[in-house]
Amino acid sequence: MPRALDLSPPAYTGPLHPLDKDAFKKRVPVIALRVPPRNVGTIVNAKELKNYIIRVPRLSPVVPDPHNPQGRLLILTISDQSELSDAAKERIQRDAEGFVDHEINLDYGFWSASDILDVCLPSELIEGAPKGFSSAGHLAHFNLNDEYLPYKHLIGSVFMDKNPQVKTVVNKLHNIDTVFRFFQMELIAGEPDFIVTHSESNCKFTFDFSKVYWNSRLHAEHERIVKSLSPHDVLADVFAGVGPFALPAAKVGCGVLANDLNPESVKYLAQNVQQNDLEDMVRVSCEDGRAFIRNVFRRLLVEPFAPYTGPRQSKTQQRKQKKREGDVEVSPTAPPTLPPRRRVTDLVMNLPDSAIEFLDAFPGVLSDPELSELYTTMPMVHCHCFTREMEEDKAHEDILQRVEARLGARPEEVREIHHVRSVAPGKEMYCISFRLPEKVARRT
Ligand SMILES: C[S@@+](CC[C@H](N)C(=O)[O-])C[C@H]1O[C@@H](n2cnc3c(N)ncnc32)[C@H](O)[C@@H]1O
Repeated sequence: MPRALDLSPPAYTGPLHPLDKDAFKKRVPVIALRVPPRNVGTIVNAKELKNYIIRVPRLSPVVPDPHNPQGRLLILTISDQSELSDAAKERIQRDAEGFVDHEINLDYGFWSASDILDVCLPSELIEGAPKGFSSAGHLAHFNLNDEYLPYKHLIGSVFMDKNPQVKTVVNKLHNIDTVFRFFQMELIAGEPDFIVTHSESNCKFTFDFSKVYWNSRLHAEHERIVKSLSPHDVLADVFAGVGPFALPAAKVGCGVLANDLNPESVKYLAQNVQQNDLEDMVRVSCEDGRAFIRNVFRRLLVEPFAPYTGPRQSKTQQRKQKKREGDVEVSPTAPPTLPPRRRVTDLVMNLPDSAIEFLDAFPGVLSDPELSELYTTMPMVHCHCFTREMEEDKAHEDILQRVEARLGARPEEVREIHHVRSVAPGKEMYCISFRLPEKVARRT
């Protein structure tokens, strides 16, 4: 009789690509308790047997008894009876019909991706092997270190096998497009389908992962900025990508002017605006960030957003309300006192490599008398950046100095210098939120 269970995968010496999955079949002898169906719950939940019954992911501890056609069931045990307490023995005597030998048949489907890689990779690569991946829709992406490249197809296909929602697996190559910030990548498993649909912050984003920037690790940063906005605000998103700040902001009620220089980003941004029913709240442009900053204030003055009048209704909610009101056209419920939104209240600039350099577009943006009169409060600028300073105080000072150099003045009102994430050893990402200095904006 076996005393302890070995549920590890068998040693593997077959081909790596494709794997010989049949070679992972394994029979594990166990000891089981034979139990009448009415007692299964009692035994499985018995406190005194808690550590004695097998509890392993993807393995049911209760199986039909192959030798007992009268409907008895087997409860699989860890097979080592040496630690059974008297209470446990009593419970077994009372509610079970004794011990029987049984065999568990395990196969490739039982083990996790890490278990499989542990027996396929050379021993020196096991410790640092990828344990998970980032994903966007059906696409999983890795950033494999060089020593894992000979095993990239193995790694890709094992993770794909173990995650049914994943249909495409890519490895990001080291070279990033210098302007549009998307990665070169190679397919390592699955279909070459890079157009993904991904949900974030209650919005649906569709985009070509191989042609635009997307970073799933920025989800919290997108949410943080959107949370800081009031539904009455108007956000200008200078480097909008496919809309992860713009769309959630519009969903809460903000008017949004969203810009990106990459025509592919803009194509998907416009598509995302449409598929989220936000056409009235998001205006899309494809300009260089500097030109956008210089144009956006006048653009909004000439064509303002309607005032915020309360939480947005989905198309279904609108239809239901219309039905309730007997298909009678009702005028919008906006209190007549609320004026149209003509002022940009916030700008977000997420191009951390160089956004600070674009701050030189701000001097004089509100010097025009009409704008100057309208802007009694200056907009907030949320500017993302990298710094090589690792200590927080030094990082803050480095960022402030660079902002001052490009703006031509030190911001007087800094709301926050927020640490977003560590990007690489010695490279930190921050977001500085400051009120645009009046003397800069009104400079003539
Ligand atoms: C780091 S991504 C950020 C995208 C998005 N805001 C996000 O958080 O995922 C920067 C974006 O800036 C765009 N971009 C790069 N240079 C630009 C420029 N000079 N003017 C406007 N957009 C630019 C890129 O195409 C890219 O979509």
